[in-house]
Order: sequence, then structure tokens, then C-alpha cells
Amino acid sequence: MTEHVQPLVMHVTGARPNFPKAAPVLAALADLPVRQLLVHTGQHYDERMSEVFFRQLGLPAPDVNLGVGSGPHGAQTAAIMVGLEELVLERRPDLVVVYGDVNSTVAAALVAAKLQIPLAHVEAGLRSFDLTMPEEINRLVTDRLADLLLVTSPDAIAHLGNEGVDPDRIHLVGNPMIDTLLRHLDELDVDSARTLVGLPPEEPYVVATLHRPGNVDDPADVAELVAAVHGVADQVRIVIPLHPRGRERLQAAGLLDHERVLAAEPLGYLEFLALVQGSVGVVTDSGGVQEETTVMGVPCLTLRPSTERPVTITHGTNRLVTRAQLPAVMAEVLSAGRAAPGTTPVPPLWDGQAGPRIAAVLARHLGL
Ligand code: UD1
Ligand code: UDP
Repeated sequence: MTEHVQPLVMHVTGARPNFPKAAPVLAALADLPVRQLLVHTGQHYDERMSEVFFRQLGLPAPDVNLGVGSGPHGAQTAAIMVGLEELVLERRPDLVVVYGDVNSTVAAALVAAKLQIPLAHVEAGLRSFDLTMPEEINRLVTDRLADLLLVTSPDAIAHLGNEGVDPDRIHLVGNPMIDTLLRHLDELDVDSARTLVGLPPEEPYVVATLHRPGNVDDPADVAELVAAVHGVADQVRIVIPLHPRGRERLQAAGLLDHERVLAAEPLGYLEFLALVQGSVGVVTDSGGVQEETTVMGVPCLTLRPSTERPVTITHGTNRLVTRAQLPAVMAEVLSAGRAAPGTTPVPPLWDGQAGPRIAAVLARHLGL
């Protein structure tokens, strides 16, 4: 009698935003008759960009860490592909699951497609229509290769339809990053997070995160950005957990030369979101933070010319601003104050159940 072997699902993660997206999918699949292999490519490796998320989100330790580290796009993507190809050939997964839009995502998509392993993309169909963003290239390629396209918002269905993707492959499942947020909301301790970053008690503050190449790579952009942040700091205290990308350039351009700018190391997930929870507003160029602020009802000013997450504007608290506009728009936010809890809209299916919906789609594909 041949022994029945459960199908193997390989999850590929590697950068900070991947971890809160993968956690609910791994948790939901744990209740089903599948084996799971969690791969970390090593794209992010600092304790504060990686390990802290595994600890705080209850993710199992990665089964494999490819340890690729940093490098230019070609070298980093290629290194991930070399390591993953070997692993996929050895382990022969029945399904590869990739998350978001980082280099680890597209590298895994290319490997799976060429080895003809079915591929699922969580957070498919988002489009900024800005090909100067590396993430947009990663999204287009990954979606073109994916067999299952798991989408977080209705606009993504329309984009994929326009690109000729078979509607049978597209599944609106909600937002797994919001599953993670809702699951941990009760653990957010605003007072401890304030103390951790050295904020005086009671004083209102804004939180900022800045790491997009379009803001922090070119010294001319960095100078404008620092002026914009100082324009905010003239009005309110601003706390900035500095992403390693651009940290030196921002500091060299005088970011900290303002008494109301408070810099910090990258924060753990719980500490960061606690700070957001207690803030009067957020300034960001992050993708995920636009979504989290929407669900938390915290005003979000996004320093980008476009967003691949327009639902956070139509159904949320997000506004796109230029660096030049930021101080004046922040003045409006500060005078309007935060809306009463529960009164801002939330996108459909951002309800904490995306993980189980994704697991159900994957299970059906695996014939379970
Ligand atoms: C990557 C993603 C971006 C995502 C961001 C989330 C790509 C193309 N970009 O950008 O979409 O929004 O992660 O945070 O995949 N570094 C460290 N320690 C680390 C990791 C990086 O010091 O643990 C430094 C290195 O100098 C590295 C630089 O940060 O060269 C950039 O890292 P990289 O992963 O290439 O891109 P991110 O800007 O982090
Ligand atoms: N985040 C965090 N600590 C920080 C800054 C961000 O835990 O100091 C979390 C944030 O809450 C979200 C994720 O990191 O869950 C977003 O990652 P990032 O902004 O790096 O990437 P993006 O979403 O822009 O791709």
C-alpha cells in the first residue's frame, strides 16, 4: 500500500512587509492536511527588520534561510533565484506562495514558473502605473506568472482583467496584513512605545516612515524631504524610526537638526503600531502603513506621486501629498483632529478573515 503524503506548500518571504502578510496564511493552513515549508531569502537580515517579526507575530522560525543579504537589484534577485532553484528541485513543493512586491517575490515567481510549480501570489493586482518603482516591475512580472491571484481590493480585479488574466484565477480574499493588525490590536501599548522612543508624556506627536528610493536615494530629494519634515516639526513633534535605506543620507542632510525631530531605530511591529495608534497623524511612503492607518482611523499623508492602494484614499484615511505640500496639509490634519473611533470607512473584506479565505483557495487548488 502506498503511503499518502500530504501536499507541500512552500512560502517565500524575505523583507519586512512580507512577514505580517504571511503569518495569517501559515496559521490558517496549519489547520489543513498540508505540509508547510517557510523560506526566508535573507533579503532583510537586521534583527529589527526580520527576527522581531517572527517573535512578535508567532511565525514559526524559517525552515530555510538563504542568507542572500543586500545588493543591487540584479545581483540580489539572481542570488535568491540560485538558492531557491536548488531548494525547489530538492523539495519539489506542490505550490509556491509569494507575498507582495519585493525582490524576493519576483525571484521566487520566476523560479516556480520555470520549474512549472504552481504559483500563488498574495496581494496580486495592485498597480501604481509608475514603472520607475522597482515594486511595480515586480508586481507585473509576478502576476503574469501566477496561477492563483489573491487580491486585497476590487480595483486589483479590474487591473488584472485589463491585463488579460483569466477571471477564474483571481480571488478577492481581503487583506492578510489587516488580519495580523486586528489580531494584535489588543497588545498595542501606547505608553510603553512612547517611553521606548523617548517621547515626553501627553505631548501630541506624528509618526513618519521614509524609505522609497524616490524620496531617499537622490541627495536633492533628500534635501527637500528634510525641509518638509522640518516644516512638520515646526508644528508638532515627529518621531521617525529610520529604515536602513537612506538613514545615513537623511542624517547627513540635517534631519536631526530640529529639536522636535526624534529619530529611532526601526521598531518592532507591536511598538511601531502602538506609536501609530497614539499619534495624531502619520507621514509615510510605505505601502503597508497606508493600509494599517486606514483600518486604525489615523490620518495618513503619503509622500508619493501615486499609490497602488487607492482604496486607502476612497475607503480610508490616506491622502497623497508632495514634499512641498506636506507642512500645509499637516496643518489641516492637526486642526481637524482624528475622527472618532469606528467612524472612518474600511475597505470591503478587511475584516481579519483573509488568512482563512486564502487557505481555502489554496486547498481547493491542491484538491483537498
Ligand atoms: C525593500 C523592497 C521594498 C519594501 C522594503 C520594505 C525591493 C526592491 N524593495 O526595499 O519594496 O518597501 O524592502 O522595507 O525588494 N539594509 C540593512 N539591513 C537590512 C536590510 C537592508 O541595512 O536588514 C540596507 C542595505 O544597505 C540595503 C538597503 O538597506 O542595501 C536596501 O535594502 P533592500 O532590501 O535592497 O531594499 P529596501 O529599500 O529595504
Ligand atoms: N513597520 C514596523 N516597524 C517600523 C516601521 C514599519 O514594524 O519601524 C511595519 C509596518 O507596521 C508594516 C510593515 O512594517 O506592517 C511595512 O513595511 P515597510 O514599510 O518596510 O514596507 P512596504 O509596506 O512599504 O513595502
